[in-house]
Amino acid sequence: MRIDAITIFPDFFQALDLSLLGKARDKSLLEFHAHDLRDFTHDKHRTVDDSPYGGGAGMLMKPEPWGDALDSLLGAEGFHDDTVVIFTSPAGEVFKQSMAHELADVKRIIFACGRYEGIDQRVVEYARTRANVRMVSIGDYVLNGGEVAAIVMVEAIARLIPGVIGNAESLIEESHTDGLLEYPSYTKPASWRGLDVPEVLTSGNHAAIAKWRKDQQIERTKAVRPDLLGE
Ligand code: 6GU
Repeated sequence: MRIDAITIFPDFFQALDLSLLGKARDKSLLEFHAHDLRDFTHDKHRTVDDSPYGGGAGMLMKPEPWGDALDSLLGAEGFHDDTVVIFTSPAGEVFKQSMAHELADVKRIIFACGRYEGIDQRVVEYARTRANVRMVSIGDYVLNGGEVAAIVMVEAIARLIPGVIGNAESLIEESHTDGLLEYPSYTKPASWRGLDVPEVLTSGNHAAIAKWRKDQQIERTKAVRPDLLGE
């Protein structure tokens, strides 16, 4: 998979050089490039923003640098059905594990990281003529820009690419894959600061352990995320 990000803060993406994703890049499972939007401006001040038509607070990102940045990644013409352009936006559909799985199968993803009050809407319309487009939020809160949101999505997507995570089983049992939160886990020592590991886990009774874990998952999910149970 190849992932690109267009941003005015390419340095944010140095976080992706670390740990698991750095290894995925070293193993050539994932290619990642961050591009500075200001490299696609043509004025002395490298301007990327302007005031909104119709008035209102704040500045908007102007369309021309975005158009040139997208063209430099996609070529001057043609529709790329193997590519998804993701506009990060608090007004987008909410990113979920199911979307991470969908995107893990895509050949190429381009993150368009908006700042200020957003990007001129015509950039989204233009992108729709060049590739598949999604507007995506990572949750119901407001960030100053889409960079951190894009990093969150890259991490969630990349770890689902076959070979990125050593132990594929750890992908199956984790929170959200089965619509329930993960059960609590323990390691040695069996007793620590007066706190004991639940007895069932040291019993060797695998059926009892499986039932205890499932019960814990349901209990936890009911307590903190009843919405996942449709309640
Ligand atoms: Cl993707 N962008 C911004 N600016 N704020 C957000 C977000 C994205 N997702 C949640 N809040």
